[in-house]
Amino acid sequence: MKILGIESSCDETAASVVECAGIGKPLKLLSNEVATSMDLHAVYGGVVPEIAARSHIESIIPVIEAALSAASTDWDDIDAIAVTYGAGLGGSLLIGVLTARTLAITKNKPLYACNHVEGHVYANFLTETTLQRYTLPSSAPDFPMLALIVSGGHSQLALFRNHFDYTLLGQTRDDAIGEAFDKVAKVLGLPYPGGPSISKKALEGDPKAFTLPKAKMEGKYDFSFSGLKTAVLRAIQEACGKTYDFPSFELAGLLSEAQKADIAASFQRTAVETVVDKTLLAFEEFNPKSVVIAGGVAANPELRRQMTERLPLPIAYTDLKLCTDNGAMIAALGVFKHLLGQPTADPFTLDINPNLSM
Ligand code: KG4
Ligand code: ZN
Repeated sequence: MKILGIESSCDETAASVVECAGIGKPLKLLSNEVATSMDLHAVYGGVVPEIAARSHIESIIPVIEAALSAASTDWDDIDAIAVTYGAGLGGSLLIGVLTARTLAITKNKPLYACNHVEGHVYANFLTETTLQRYTLPSSAPDFPMLALIVSGGHSQLALFRNHFDYTLLGQTRDDAIGEAFDKVAKVLGLPYPGGPSISKKALEGDPKAFTLPKAKMEGKYDFSFSGLKTAVLRAIQEACGKTYDFPSFELAGLLSEAQKADIAASFQRTAVETVVDKTLLAFEEFNPKSVVIAGGVAANPELRRQMTERLPLPIAYTDLKLCTDNGAMIAALGVFKHLLGQPTADPFTLDINPNLSM
């Protein structure tokens, strides 16, 4: 069985083919094509929705064709199409959904509507590939599975008892952790996207140089990152000898490279500790058989280091290319929807849901 996955919720236009021989058999990644409009957004310091939507229109057909070709698959071999219908940017989601709907009708394939955040979790179920330079876990995670989802738009902790049977334990009450990485990077004058820039800069810094607060939340498993973001801004203002009303975009020019590195390292340590603390707490309460991390921030080396160091069970990480947005995670989720008889979507009516929650 082969599933085509299509993802276009933000600034990545992505498609992938995943193969699986049946229930209990490994998921094999046959192709993973991603076209990003990141460079077009870099000059603005963040994703511009209109630019993202326009570049999806240009890229989506070539990306799907490339995914089929790299998988040496033609339409006859595709059993179903899985597409992200939320959460994400409206204009971006529309392109993927309309393309998938059209293909489902014209090629006569079942269509599965996928939740982007659930998709991130399913990247961890890919255990084999025909592609070069992918490092995948040797086996799929066991249930019950604790999933920490950390991306540019989401910070969530969920307990999966089985496929399609999970409880959301907690989530961010304000900013997502990736958003905090991106905003702190902006104040430090580091290039977009901020996550990778911060983790690179942090390598030269002292993670204990600044003491930053970890938010205390009412919900045991909830997160908050807006206070941390403001605390970083205040620390930078103080280090520069400036008051609160000094323009934040002028601060980076006053900081030495060593100061920037110390701030990046201290922020990263605190942000990562915050999510690892809650993951440990949930681990102790629910005693899961596996723990997975998912989403763009799952590519962060400090997060992986702290998880491995603090969790009492070995944790398998997926390839960095499968952490940020991709079509393979949607195809992987589609495999289970198809195998386990989940409802299909109507290709004539499927709508996007930009605010879809878990
Ligand atoms: O999952 P993703 O590609 O898109 C969303 O669904 O949001 O995540 C993108 C986020 C961005 O905020 C980016 O800065 C962050 O993931 N990110 C990282 C790293 N790589 C990407 N954050 C920290 N460390 C990284 N190495
Ligand atoms: Zn994502």
